[in-house]
Amino acid sequence: RIVYVNGEFVPEEDAKISVFDRGFLFADGVYEVTSVLDGKLVDFPGHMTRLGRSLSELQMDTPVSQEEMEAIHRRLIADNDLVEGMIYLQVTRGAADRDFAFPKDTKPSLVLFTQARDLVNAPAAATGLKIAFVDDIRWGRRDIKTVQLLAPSLCKMAAKALGCDDAWMVEDGHITEGTSNNAYIVTKDGAIVTRNLSNSILHGITRAAVLQLAAEAQIRVEERAFTPDEARDAQEAFVTAASSFVMPVVEVDGVTLGNGKPGPIAKRLRELYVAQAR
Ligand code: PDD
Repeated sequence: RIVYVNGEFVPEEDAKISVFDRGFLFADGVYEVTSVLDGKLVDFPGHMTRLGRSLSELQMDTPVSQEEMEAIHRRLIADNDLVEGMIYLQVTRGAADRDFAFPKDTKPSLVLFTQARDLVNAPAAATGLKIAFVDDIRWGRRDIKTVQLLAPSLCKMAAKALGCDDAWMVEDGHITEGTSNNAYIVTKDGAIVTRNLSNSILHGITRAAVLQLAAEAQIRVEERAFTPDEARDAQEAFVTAASSFVMPVVEVDGVTLGNGKPGPIAKRLRELYVAQAR
């Protein structure tokens, strides 16, 4: 695999980052994951806009121009013959002597790599996910897409230990989101409910696109926090992310939703999203 590191396209085994990089020492960095379908970037402008916001919230410089960022993505797709999968992009504050205060004048590190994956024909899309509820132990600025991913990683492992595929994280009696996706339920009267945007969740790029598609399809959407009880009582459920598009959920906290198969609204939104991405 060819990866990008600070201006160079190199085989992954030749890629190097300093042990003093603040991404490594402090998780002082941000990232984006953009999906690739038929060799083309999906929702790319949205991901770049969010990256710009994450960087500015952490007072970090933008390492390369928007045009250059797009050119790097395209070159990685070409060099790796990527037809379907994801591109991971990470910007960290760069290398500096270890100090909690932000160092002055460090050069940010920029790393990108590809991951080939079946997104459209993902096996989980046919069966649906089983979700466990786990306490949300993350920090308070989940709207910034930082590389500080140990808490969601622990939440996902807790869900796996319960025999589930992923966790929906719960805070103050309400679901925030999935460990790496936004969470949705469909009520018995056919309305989609998903948490409103705030610092409590990541502002998903796929979420924005899917809510737009739902509005166009005249499906009612309520953007508000929902409880574990509402989720257990839902007709169907699903999650969204660049890495999974719209992924149906068939079980929450041991309760089977609907007939235990991916629900019609999740399936329809998934088809609409894939059709639009192509
Ligand atoms: N995760 N919420 C969280 C906590 C996420 O980590 C993600 C994405 C999302 C969905 O955002 P988007 O639709 O923009 O991908 C919501 C990426 C895919 C990851 O960490 O791999």
